[in-house]
Amino acid sequence: MDIQKIGIVGAGQMGNGIAHVCALAGYDVVLNDISQDMLDKALALIDRNLERQVSRGKISDEEKQSAMARISTTLVLTELGPSDLIIEAATERETVKQAIFEDLLPHLKPETILTSNTSSISITRLASRTDRPEKFMGFHFMNPVPVMQLVELIRGIATDEATFAACKAVVDKLGKTAATAEDFPAFIVNRILMPMINEAVYTLYEGVGNVRSIDESLKLGANHPMGPLELADFIGLDTCLAIMNVLHDGLADTKYRPCPLLTKYVEAGWLGRKTERGFYDYR
Ligand code: CAA
Repeated sequence: MDIQKIGIVGAGQMGNGIAHVCALAGYDVVLNDISQDMLDKALALIDRNLERQVSRGKISDEEKQSAMARISTTLVLTELGPSDLIIEAATERETVKQAIFEDLLPHLKPETILTSNTSSISITRLASRTDRPEKFMGFHFMNPVPVMQLVELIRGIATDEATFAACKAVVDKLGKTAATAEDFPAFIVNRILMPMINEAVYTLYEGVGNVRSIDESLKLGANHPMGPLELADFIGLDTCLAIMNVLHDGLADTKYRPCPLLTKYVEAGWLGRKTERGFYDYR
């Protein structure tokens, strides 16, 4: 299938990054969110991030302008109906994602491919609630989307080869690299990354180190670009906790139990950069 029009659900940090790279690669993008404020902020951020690429000589001003012109926004989910490919990048809660697919389905073309940017939820289970499990798969970008090279592609149990090939072609056109993961909790990247972040929170919880010494240790001692607690704030502590819960429930192994301190921060509404408070104070 020749994909030209991409519908993106959710204008948060992942959704706006996905819109950015898809528009820059030449796709027509319709970005949907339930909040006009989120859509306005997303467009402003895409503009700023594209400008950053222009100022560093990575793209021309013309390329920036045509990318911006290819993005339209809507508060009406069903306006994504004519898309060839849907990338759902809403909040990391299964009930929310299922409700979005349910509302969208009656408005989609039969050949439209449905994908989710979920970082951990079962693709097979999400697909089974739709009318097209063979045209459903995981399309998982990394944050910040314009910078990170990887996209995880996850086949559900029923995903057909044509769907996989079409999604792989999109990843190629975006200039990114696809890694294929089997459909098990948290796939590859988060299966490895989240327990490391969770262990960093335990290291803090048990007083082995403080926020700065833990982050410095991994930055200077293991050459990580960000320390694990800084990275947790960047990803969002609610997302980190949601992924740990998926690992804990899905693999039924106590080694994945979320650190109580992570739970407490989320209960406090200290979700990291997006709420200006997490392991660091951004106010
Ligand atoms: N849009 C466009 N360009 C951006 C950008 C954005 N949003 N953010 C950063 N950049 C560009 C900068 O312009 C800069 O470009 P040049 O190389 O041309 O100078 C480059 O990226 C580096 O940025 P900075 O100089 O501002 O800052 P930095 O060197 O500290 O790098 C970082 C920032 C790229 C975020 C780096 O700290 C990093 O790689 N951190 C780790 C990120 C990571 O691990 N992401 C994965 C998270 S896990 C995930 O996403 C999966 C999940 O499901 C939870």
